[in-house]
Amino acid sequence: MKFSFLFLLFLLSNVSANSTKYLDNKSCDECHEGIYEEYQGSAHARGYFNDALHHAIADKVSDKTYACATCHMPMADNLKALISGEARPDKSNKTHTDAISCYFCHTIAYVKKAHKFNVNTKSRQAKGYKPTLYGRLIKPEDSDKHSSINNPVYAKNACSGCHSHKLNDNNVTIFRAMSDKQNSLECIKCHMPELEGGAEKLDKRARGQHASHKFLGIHDEKFRTTGLDINISSTQNTIMISLYNKMSHPLIVQPARVKYLKLTVLREGKEIWKNYKTDPREDKKVFFEFTFKGKDGKKIIIPANAYSYLRVNNLEAKERKTFEYKGMNLEKGDVINASMYVRMAKKDCQKVVELKEEKFKKAFLLKSVEKIID
Ligand code: HEC
Ligand code: HEC
Ligand code: HEC
Ligand code: HEC
Ligand code: HEC
Repeated sequence: MKFSFLFLLFLLSNVSANSTKYLDNKSCDECHEGIYEEYQGSAHARGYFNDALHHAIADKVSDKTYACATCHMPMADNLKALISGEARPDKSNKTHTDAISCYFCHTIAYVKKAHKFNVNTKSRQAKGYKPTLYGRLIKPEDSDKHSSINNPVYAKNACSGCHSHKLNDNNVTIFRAMSDKQNSLECIKCHMPELEGGAEKLDKRARGQHASHKFLGIHDEKFRTTGLDINISSTQNTIMISLYNKMSHPLIVQPARVKYLKLTVLREGKEIWKNYKTDPREDKKVFFEFTFKGKDGKKIIIPANAYSYLRVNNLEAKERKTFEYKGMNLEKGDVINASMYVRMAKKDCQKVVELKEEKFKKAFLLKSVEKIID
């Protein structure tokens, strides 16, 4: 009798502890194995502990406070202490290593608009009950690990809590990917396309499809060709290159990245013209970047301390621009090549932080287009 009473107590206390407990990413794998696997390879699974660029810059900005947590470690169980510097990121804490976690994204109740950056407001979970997760499924099947509710936030605002904009302490915009009126559904259409296979392994509702959680972006060779149209036209002495940004955000979103065009003319396999000699920065108008000035007006690399811009050259959402190169003498059979490249961390970054990974040392081809003169 005594034994079973204690056992009951144990069970009860366990139930209430579990219900308010954080459900880590790995726990979703049991039923959403496909989505879990996609997510693991995505940028949202990266953060302080496994994104070298983020880690290096965060420590450079401050080795005491970790204010980046709001967006990069939003599930932290001691978020305030991380931001104020009373605690440091901890490798043994799952709410820290999970980065932008499944549970975080699926418990956003609404997004509050704000000047510096928007704020994701979390839903309150009732003690003693399994957690409620939000999504976009119609009539979700019940599960014993969580309840499910369809919430319009997952079409309208799922991305704007973190990706919309960010200003630093001096009111300089570090990035602005969305306007106030933009709907996150646009982002979802491109970055979370429907893939084969149900959202859950038993797929009792026979959905047959689910929203991709790979969040493909600039690191995917195929996906990155789809954001930009490059068009070449020419007369005998002029080459016209037209760029059209099909994306609903600027060509450059984050200041660590640069994108640039390399233009060449080949005659019988030999290069007879190029838009720059050695450094793509020589052809400024097709070198897309934004760089910052510090308090003293001099160029600085880390935007957290910026006071204003030094140079902004971007292609806004749905913007088209045409660039002319005159003084050519093109002949039949000449091949004009226009290639857009991206650097994941611009060369200047290497001056302030040490980045050992290969991917930060070279430029990647974004897209390449050719025209043969006839
Ligand atoms: C308002 C939310 C927000 C805050 C606060 C924030 N970031 Fe970010 N950060 C983002 C978003 C969103 C992205 C992805 C944007 C992109 O890829 O274009 C990002 C991307 C990055 C990247 C690029 C990652 C890569 O490997 O390509 C770096 C580096 C970075 N942030 C550093 C920081 C640092 C350091 C801090 C704190 C000083 C910080 N961020 C604070 C939202 C934020
Ligand atoms: C024991 C199995 C199980 C586990 C573990 C589980 N889920 Fe689910 N989940 C389900 C089922 C079943 C559905 C309903 C699927 C359907 O209707 O097609 C679902 C639906 C969802 C939905 C859609 C909700 C909606 O209203 O549209 C989300 C989001 C979700 N789960 C997230 C998670 C996350 C995040 C985790 C890990 C923290 C997790 N699930 C763990 C079984 C599970
Ligand atoms: C809790 C904040 C947060 C939310 C909400 C969020 N993101 Fe992100 N996202 C980030 C951060 C931070 C990064 C950069 C992580 C890193 O690389 O270190 C990122 C990276 C990305 C990237 C990779 C960019 C690249 O190529 O480098 C894509 C694509 C992306 N997010 C799309 C989305 C979409 C679509 C949504 C809405 C469904 C969304 N994100 C919601 C914070 C968030
Ligand atoms: C028409 C399709 C399309 C739409 C709509 C779209 N994106 Fe993208 N996005 C892309 C492609 C393609 C890339 C990678 C190529 C590139 O960056 O040039 C990308 C890159 C990104 C990146 C990485 C940017 C970087 O620094 O290079 C982030 C972050 C991102 N998208 C978030 C979003 C968010 C948030 C939305 C909603 C406002 C959105 N995207 C809407 C296609 C789209
Ligand atoms: C950056 C935010 C974000 C993260 C992180 C995230 N999700 Fe989602 N998830 C979404 C959005 C937005 C949708 C709705 C997309 C749609 O239906 O078009 C969604 C949809 C779902 C669905 C319903 C499937 C469907 O087709 O709509 C399930 C189940 C789910 N997520 C589980 C997970 C699991 C498990 C993880 C972690 C392994 C995870 N999510 C991580 C934003 C996120």
